[in-house]
Amino acid sequence: MNPIKTNPGNSSEKKEIKKTKDGSNTIFVPGLKEHYHSMHGALQESRHVFIKEGFHKCTKDVIYLLEAGFGTGLNAILTYIEAEKNKKKIFYLGIDQYPLDWKLVSKLNYPDLLPEDIRETFKELHQSKWGVTNMLSPWFTFQKIKANLGTYNPTPGLDLVYFDAFGPDKQPEMWSHDIFFRIFEALNRGGILTTYSAKGSVKRMLKDIGYKVNLIKGPPGKRQMIRAVKK
Ligand SMILES: C[S@@+](CC[C@H](N)C(=O)[O-])C[C@H]1O[C@@H](n2cnc3c(N)ncnc32)[C@H](O)[C@@H]1O
Repeated sequence: MNPIKTNPGNSSEKKEIKKTKDGSNTIFVPGLKEHYHSMHGALQESRHVFIKEGFHKCTKDVIYLLEAGFGTGLNAILTYIEAEKNKKKIFYLGIDQYPLDWKLVSKLNYPDLLPEDIRETFKELHQSKWGVTNMLSPWFTFQKIKANLGTYNPTPGLDLVYFDAFGPDKQPEMWSHDIFFRIFEALNRGGILTTYSAKGSVKRMLKDIGYKVNLIKGPPGKRQMIRAVKK
């Protein structure tokens, strides 16, 4: 039985903006008692888990990237910035079953905290239609897909996966063998999956599927995290 009493991230559910320890905002879902990011620092966490340990570990110049949980678009906008800086061509696909309203997202302070002038780009990222391919720049092509990850079949050819679901204790069905297997099947050899979780059961499941699992240093406030590679 699903232990969750609320619909995770349900768009009609009340959400609150909170400030995390590094000054960046996150969103709190009261019904789920869960934040979108680490309270030790949303920006720090995204930069560490997804940019440093994901984006920068991928050696390709053209990267097909899937994000499980588009959410606030923080990982997506940081990826856009890195793509521009490093002249890497990114094809980004963000999956989310419960897209956030721009009314709420526009109150997040990410554009104030980033050195780059990304206010308009951040807005475009959010206001662009779901299910349609858009180009933010020659380096960043993206699509947001409103879908349930539980049944979504990723198209093969992925180089990098940001796995950013709500925690395994809050939304266990997102951390299933089936989902990680479908991602594995869609990853290229050498493809990377990075996530903030270091949970033993997740690690074991990934190993069973065939990923090479590395437990590496986590972001501030978290000892370890997982980076898994399809060998
Ligand atoms: C931890 S938050 C994502 C944080 C996001 N990466 C960010 O930077 O803001 C988890 C996300 O998963 C989404 N979600 C919840 N259940 C889902 C499902 N079954 N399929 C797809 N997305 C889901 C939520 O709407 C939420 O945006």
